[in-house]
Amino acid sequence: MQTLPGFRDFLPADCASRNYIFDTWRKVARGYGFVEWDGPVLEPTELYRKKSGPEIVDQLFNFVDKGEREVAMRPELTPTLARVVAANERGFKKPLKWFSIGQFFRYEKQQRGRLREHFQLNCDILGEAGPSADVELVALCVDVLRGFGLTEKDFVVRISDRGFWTEFLEQQQVPPENWQAILQAIDKSEREPREKTAVKLGPLADAVFAVFDGGGRSQRLDEVMAALRARGLGEFVEVDVQIVRGLAYYTGVVFEAFDRTGKLRAIAGGGRYDNLVQQLSEGAVSMPALGFAMGDVVLGELIKIVPGATEKMSGAVKAYGNLDAFIIIAKEERRLDALSIVQRLRESGMRVDYSFGAAKVPKQFQAGDEWPQIAMKDLRSGKQELVGQDELVSRVKALLSAEL
Ligand code: HAM
Repeated sequence: MQTLPGFRDFLPADCASRNYIFDTWRKVARGYGFVEWDGPVLEPTELYRKKSGPEIVDQLFNFVDKGEREVAMRPELTPTLARVVAANERGFKKPLKWFSIGQFFRYEKQQRGRLREHFQLNCDILGEAGPSADVELVALCVDVLRGFGLTEKDFVVRISDRGFWTEFLEQQQVPPENWQAILQAIDKSEREPREKTAVKLGPLADAVFAVFDGGGRSQRLDEVMAALRARGLGEFVEVDVQIVRGLAYYTGVVFEAFDRTGKLRAIAGGGRYDNLVQQLSEGAVSMPALGFAMGDVVLGELIKIVPGATEKMSGAVKAYGNLDAFIIIAKEERRLDALSIVQRLRESGMRVDYSFGAAKVPKQFQAGDEWPQIAMKDLRSGKQELVGQDELVSRVKALLSAEL
């Protein structure tokens, strides 16, 4: 029996890498004053049908449950967030700055950087309409990636403004019911030959390509870029109007993070979705919102090809495996005494292991008749000393915190 296509087993080393990614995500998001939350992994299919747009609906892992409900494994978090915030917003001071780490499911064709399950960090700000929130969010995305030891040489955040395109479509007198299809074609245009995009755009093709070639601008984009430069992040960002994002709910500034070589798929993506809370609450609550999600799959690939980032990850992963102490039971008749010592060390918060069966004492230890004292050896320096049982915990702690 094998895993289903697009699903992964996480052996201990994989889990250690995953935990390193989660720990870094959590640390940087918390550093920006975001608080953690989560939602259910199973939702009514309707939530995505209404809100995520056709691309995601085609990729749903959905089924009818035993209570005849149409349900879907979550493909993304944003509709859930909008629902939760609409229902609970009174209890919170605005703006809300929320982050979440969880697993998501999309029935996609398995390929490099795309699986059928992946983990995402989601960071969202709700209740703030001004561009300073867009700036803060892009800065957070940059700093999360920097947290992995990645630099401006390794990745870039491409920023665009969907508002720019909707104004363009208005000017071109495209009826709103056709907007979604055109935005999707623009979104895909970077990964497709121009002829294919031209067919999708029809009579609009020349005008759209003129924007691509001339580089579009919007006042909002200029403001956001200037503020990011002022924060010293100019090297990490650039304007690219070809980004519009595939999801239906975006309304304003949108962005995606890519590796500089352009070989990998997007590492992260997000933007403003000022109408989603209102739509989900049927008009009861209106709240501007913006956010992004970063996936673990492409990020993991990028870390592997950037030596500095690989080194940082392996250092952290190695540290997860480290024990603080290993208890060698030199004489079997002392096993129960030894276990009480194991217990004490563990209770004091240390990571301690020992062998279940009788084990040969390694040669490097001089095991004698120390008991009731204990021989303690620092494996880093090789120094061995005898300590009393009562002082063991404090001596091991002092040793662990001492500089070598
Ligand atoms: P998204 O662009 O669909 O946005 O996904 C965000 C990131 O998740 C992608 O850039 C990619 O790294 C990762 N990802 C998505 N699908 C897969 C997959 N099948 N396999 C591996 N990785 C994947 C959203 O999900 C929005 N809800 C983000 C957002 C939050 N917008 C506002 N707030």
